[in-house]
Amino acid sequence: MNILVTGGAGYIGSHTTVELLNAGHKVIIADNLYNAHYTAVSNIAKITGKTPAFYQINCACRNQLRHVFTEQKIDAVIHFAAYKAVGESVKKPLEYYRNNLDSTMTLLEVMEEFGCKSLVFSSSATVYGPNNPHPYKEEMPAIQSSSPYGWTKVMNERILTDYCTAHPDFSAVLLRYFNPIGAHESGLIGDDPNGIPNNLMPYIGRVAAGKLEKLTIFGGDYDTPDGTCQRDYLHVVDLAVGHLKALEYAAEHKGVEAINLGTGNGVSVLELVNAFQKVNGMKLPYVIGPRRDGDLPAFWADASKAKELLGWEATHTVEDMCRSSWQFAKNASI
Ligand code: WQD
Repeated sequence: MNILVTGGAGYIGSHTTVELLNAGHKVIIADNLYNAHYTAVSNIAKITGKTPAFYQINCACRNQLRHVFTEQKIDAVIHFAAYKAVGESVKKPLEYYRNNLDSTMTLLEVMEEFGCKSLVFSSSATVYGPNNPHPYKEEMPAIQSSSPYGWTKVMNERILTDYCTAHPDFSAVLLRYFNPIGAHESGLIGDDPNGIPNNLMPYIGRVAAGKLEKLTIFGGDYDTPDGTCQRDYLHVVDLAVGHLKALEYAAEHKGVEAINLGTGNGVSVLELVNAFQKVNGMKLPYVIGPRRDGDLPAFWADASKAKELLGWEATHTVEDMCRSSWQFAKNASI
């Protein structure tokens, strides 16, 4: 199929594009490069031997998006394009609501105009909010979040659900990611955010590469086995394969379906740091500092629905995630 991947030059988008190309699909990337580099596109070509079509556009701009659909026959869309920095969203809520909601609504309008009826949406475990017990299951209320970024995911899920009600022949799969980390085995693509990383693993990578002095572990006094927060870390290649499976599912089914993509296991910050040190044979300088506002002590996925509906489950280990993260971080650009 011909797949439009919005945000396809980004961390998860580039890994998903690799899996799509390897599976024989044609890929068209639309990305404004706000939080990505064109080198990801050329590295995708190095990895797969195939070069995706690339359009540097803003997906919230209808004319720019229409141009892509006019030039390319699009069979389905995987929609990653969004601002995604939790802390930044608190400072710039309007930019986040404008960009993340307009891009989804504009995409739906243009898909309708061109008769494209299949969408996989990049959602997040953040939609489960702070009040659900873990492991999170899809039928739990997913109607709140703790940041404007997270709220855009809740609202986009609502928009897609209501759109599917109004358009019964449309298919939307809402993939709720837990904590994607790791990188493609080539070391050519990975998580390389602009500026100081907010997320744990890219920060660890910069410390390991000597670009940052030390890691601060945010809180060592939580009610968890070792006092540090637990998360469901998922290898980004497993996550990418999950998108391929979701695309196949969307092609065979109508309506909206929310699906968790996680391992179903909770791993603490200290466990991840220790695994990183062990598998890469290094000492990582870190201190335990105060808690970070908004952090939940622990959550992970119930991943049974992905296995039942998509035939998908995570296969990579924490060691694989740590090894591949370092393989990428030591070569990364910044
Ligand atoms: C993980 C753990 C931190 C940095 C976020 C978004 C979520 C999703 C994934 C997009 C926490 C600790 C971190 C550091 C640390 N993104 N940490 N020192 O917060 O679980 O989820 O990314 O969908 O929406 O909220 O991920 O990697 O930021 O933090 O101790 O320098 O690592 O306190 O316990 P998080 P994270």
